[in-house]
Amino acid sequence: MTKIDQLVEKMSLEEKAALCTGSGPWTLTSVERLGIPEMTVTDGPHGVRRVEDVHTFISTSVPATCFPTAACMASTWNVDLIQTVGEAIAAECIALKVDVVLGPGVNMKRTPLCGRNFEYYSEDPYLAGEMAVSFIKGVQGKGVGTSLKHFAANNQEYQRTTINSEVDERALREIYLPAFEAAVKKGKPWTVMCSYNKLNGTFSAENHRLLTEILKEEWGFEGFVVSDWGAVHDRVEALRAGLDLEMPGPRERRVKAVIEAVRSGQLDMSVLDEAVRRILAIVFKAAETDKGGSFDAGEHHALARKVAGEGMVLLKNNGILPLSDQKQIAVIGRSAKEAYFQGGGSSHINPTQVDNPYDELGKITGAQALSYAVGYPADESFDQALIDEACEAASSAEVALLYICLPATKESEGYDRPDLDLTAHQVALIQAVTGVQPNTVVILNNGAPVVMSEWIEGPAAVIEAWMMGQAGGGAIADVLFGKVNPSGKLAETFPLKLVDTPAYINYPGEIGTVRYGEGIFLGYRYYDTKEVPTLFPFGYGMSYTTFEYQNPRVSSQTFRDVDGLTVSVEVTNAGKVAGKEVVQVYIHDHQSKVVRPPKELKGFAKVELQPGETKTVTVSLDFRAFAFYHPAYRQWITEDGEFDILFGSSSSDIRCTKTVTLQSTLELPSILTRESTLREWLDDPRGMQVLAYLYEQISEQMRANFGGEDGETIGMDPMGFLMETPLMGLLYFVGDSMPSSPEDVVEELLAKVYRSD
Ligand code: BGC
Repeated sequence: MTKIDQLVEKMSLEEKAALCTGSGPWTLTSVERLGIPEMTVTDGPHGVRRVEDVHTFISTSVPATCFPTAACMASTWNVDLIQTVGEAIAAECIALKVDVVLGPGVNMKRTPLCGRNFEYYSEDPYLAGEMAVSFIKGVQGKGVGTSLKHFAANNQEYQRTTINSEVDERALREIYLPAFEAAVKKGKPWTVMCSYNKLNGTFSAENHRLLTEILKEEWGFEGFVVSDWGAVHDRVEALRAGLDLEMPGPRERRVKAVIEAVRSGQLDMSVLDEAVRRILAIVFKAAETDKGGSFDAGEHHALARKVAGEGMVLLKNNGILPLSDQKQIAVIGRSAKEAYFQGGGSSHINPTQVDNPYDELGKITGAQALSYAVGYPADESFDQALIDEACEAASSAEVALLYICLPATKESEGYDRPDLDLTAHQVALIQAVTGVQPNTVVILNNGAPVVMSEWIEGPAAVIEAWMMGQAGGGAIADVLFGKVNPSGKLAETFPLKLVDTPAYINYPGEIGTVRYGEGIFLGYRYYDTKEVPTLFPFGYGMSYTTFEYQNPRVSSQTFRDVDGLTVSVEVTNAGKVAGKEVVQVYIHDHQSKVVRPPKELKGFAKVELQPGETKTVTVSLDFRAFAFYHPAYRQWITEDGEFDILFGSSSSDIRCTKTVTLQSTLELPSILTRESTLREWLDDPRGMQVLAYLYEQISEQMRANFGGEDGETIGMDPMGFLMETPLMGLLYFVGDSMPSSPEDVVEELLAKVYRSD
């Protein structure tokens, strides 16, 4: 018997029920008499928000490193770097006596309006999954737990605790779940946090299908499921659904409800025991890591700077960057002196120090080279005098650096953004400054896309610097002066305008439900399919050097789905400075029975290249890279046929292509029903067999009924019509020549189909 089983045997019903609800805002219930220690959890996800007193909500946070937010981290496309961030966060958890950090967040960026997008990685499930796996490995490799959140379909803050996300099965499996699935299967997080919202009518906290059938049974999740803070509605139902730990506590009534449910026989003790076992396993795993000591704040600050520099995306550059010998620089913008580096809400970190972007510039140029104008008000008001002052500074300098950030309250957990706009003042400021000073660089600080059509023509260069973490001010200076060659690529599409975005007509929902009507067509999958032009596409980002792609190769021209494929391409740095390139591998299915996006990201790699250097980048593509989820078969399936392997520098800059042929090894069961059309019968191998003897008869009869081969009487192709008609309906046309009624004939045929299964 394991130690855990022994404990479960010794625990009273009351102790078990108590363990399944927190003892405080951040702590789990301890059981002293049995030596079950108290466990502490803390936000997440880009730093440790450890309050001074973990037993109370109202308490200030102790200083910790504020790393760049997930939006910036994902833009690095550097899985090793993200793992290092995870390791650093774990070190801070250990020093600050935290057992589990509440992150990463892997919800898809369904709409750029979601107030919490800065905490999430991407619009692409593969990229988000890979980031999460690295982060989890980094943290957990050091003996600290993670909490993968928010499971699932939590893609807006509007009505976040009540909204019903209505998502079809294919979109769920192909878009909204895969990042969680990859993280669970490859990263093995100690805990998974359920979301606040309902998924297809049932709150996530009480969703048996989600928490037990998919997460635990299908994916083999071994840790415990924790509720988002306050997400549980019915404690007993939640336990039955697979929600092991309710947070926060204490909640005496909840504990009592569980005790009573077990006593009255409404809740099986085995369900409670299972939750207790899962919680105890993690509590004791966490206790294996000794806590306390200190962390190297300086080293972590340097790491935060490195990540910020690598996550920044150079969106536009007419050659002005990198800056070199400019003598007079006008620095304009409030965020040059007050760094805007994180968003509002539970992820808000009390930083150990903050780089001031202006001072960091001065360290490179010398303070005498800089002049300053505040540029814009802190709120959304308009002040022409600030614009005039900025123009004066800009015109009397050689270069203007325009630091623009969204008003701080615009991006936060808890509510969505109303639009994708900068303030009217900021737009006027950029237009005015670029009007007087063509050598203007705009540096943006925000957690999600802003629209730029009104002003993008003006500046000589634009940098997306994100909510860049506490060391971002220095990282901006590094990028501006070429100490860091930008290598960030967008992990989300920047649209031209809000109305272009895929969820636009299905957001934010009505009468309590938001219908994910765009299905699998999220982000670039949508823009590509509809040929909607974008401001900047997914995967896009410039460098101070250029890269050339050649010699794409595949391990086999024809391959079986189960064997997968290894693909490679040579990349050369064709410029004069060292740089890093993110090679993106997309697949394109030539033909499918279901609708598929024109391209889907299935692999990527980041390589560093010296000038003139060439490296071969290799990526493995497995069964899943080519499969789609078939709701009727309830499984991932592949189809025979041709696929293009696309090697791109962004989703819209494909440099080389290889075409391969996939051989599916799947033997799929029949899914024919009484309603199946003739086409479906003929497409089904067994259906075609059993129907063969009738098929000729039906088509002859139909031709006769429609008055001739070419259907001249009513101007239609009878065969086309036949194919889309249910077999049952066709049999009615055939009528008397059948031995029995159409219903009986179809039932007999179906019996034959399923007998041969
Ligand atoms: C958030 C979670 C967070 C938790 C604890 C909730 O409101 O949705 O992401 O981990 O609070 O602060």
